[in-house]
Amino acid sequence: MKTSQGQYTNAESDEGCHLPSTGLITRQREPKNLETPFDQLDSFLSPTDLFYIRSHFPAPKLDLTSYRLRVDGAVRRPFSLGYKELREMPSETRIAILECAGNSRVFLVPQVEGAQWELGAVGNAEWTGVPLRSLLDRARLEEDVCEVVLEGADWGIPKEKPVPPGPVSYARSLHRDKALQHEVLIAYQMNGRDLPLDHGYPVRAIVPGHYGMASVKWLTHIHAVREPFQGYWQTSDYGYWSYLGAKPVRRALGEMKVKSEIARPRVYETIESDQVYTVCGAAWAGETEVTEILVSTDGGQTWVEAGFLDPAQRYAWRRWKYDWLTPKKPGKYTLLARAKDASGGVQPNEHDQNYGSYVINHPLPIEVIVCDLAGG
Ligand code: MTE
Repeated sequence: MKTSQGQYTNAESDEGCHLPSTGLITRQREPKNLETPFDQLDSFLSPTDLFYIRSHFPAPKLDLTSYRLRVDGAVRRPFSLGYKELREMPSETRIAILECAGNSRVFLVPQVEGAQWELGAVGNAEWTGVPLRSLLDRARLEEDVCEVVLEGADWGIPKEKPVPPGPVSYARSLHRDKALQHEVLIAYQMNGRDLPLDHGYPVRAIVPGHYGMASVKWLTHIHAVREPFQGYWQTSDYGYWSYLGAKPVRRALGEMKVKSEIARPRVYETIESDQVYTVCGAAWAGETEVTEILVSTDGGQTWVEAGFLDPAQRYAWRRWKYDWLTPKKPGKYTLLARAKDASGGVQPNEHDQNYGSYVINHPLPIEVIVCDLAGG
């Protein structure tokens, strides 16, 4: 629904005071920020109803009959198309991970502001849609276009400082090169069905290899620009400190860093001593493949190689497992997993402070309690 100012109205919550009925963990009720219970990792594709939801504003309800996707800006042939037209275009289906840049924030010490995501602001799904490139080719980008801005229909006043003077919509830009890569999709299906409202119905972007913030939901506008876009969601929020020589400069978060997470055991799980326990998890990287997983069961003193359950496939995660013969001696043990990727990337020992409360890809400690359960 659109207001007279041309803005979309946000969907009214139809939940009243009922709790969400899914198996997702609530981090915030409204706007919806719900986390996947990562210890339930059991399949290569994350089930849609257990896929995390990260929204900055209430979900806008877009009407299919009036839905338009505009493609304009520095292009020779601006156009807009309706939902049916989009669905009639040649489509592709791809598997891609989405990981929220703030995933695992709860592991940061000292604690930082923001949703306290544990391990489950990540998921691996199959997406179907039209390559963004097909739309950009049709619009014919001008030579000097440097970025393409993707804008969603949701809007409001965000929280991170500096706070803008009025409401803003959710918008993110992609570098021209990435926007023209074949894998970037303007998607309308997730795991073989139409997108659910909270995952961007009717149409969203999927930007494989980049943190989830790049995959704009409720997409209504694709805008080619000649100068780098400095929008709120890549400056105030979802930015980091980089260095130009010795000078710190602010840049937009983009490509995901190599990371692995342990799904089982979960933090503070009690495990029987002197038994085989299958430690399992998943690992992923940005524009490359994960090639190796090392697991430590003694807080990082020694590491052993784990085995992969899934083949290497760019943009998808690889589940892995390691059969651990648990110690005879009861006590607390700290498990860690560390992944390497095909470009030589390896998870760092510590969180890089230049990323603030984002990009938490150091090995995450999972403390467990080993007990002699037979002996009570
Ligand atoms: N797109 C819009 N329009 N509004 C949003 O709040 N959140 C972004 C991204 N796209 C967001 C958005 C963030 S931060 C993430 S991590 C992913 O969507 C989450 O996608 P999901 O909710 O489908 O898991």
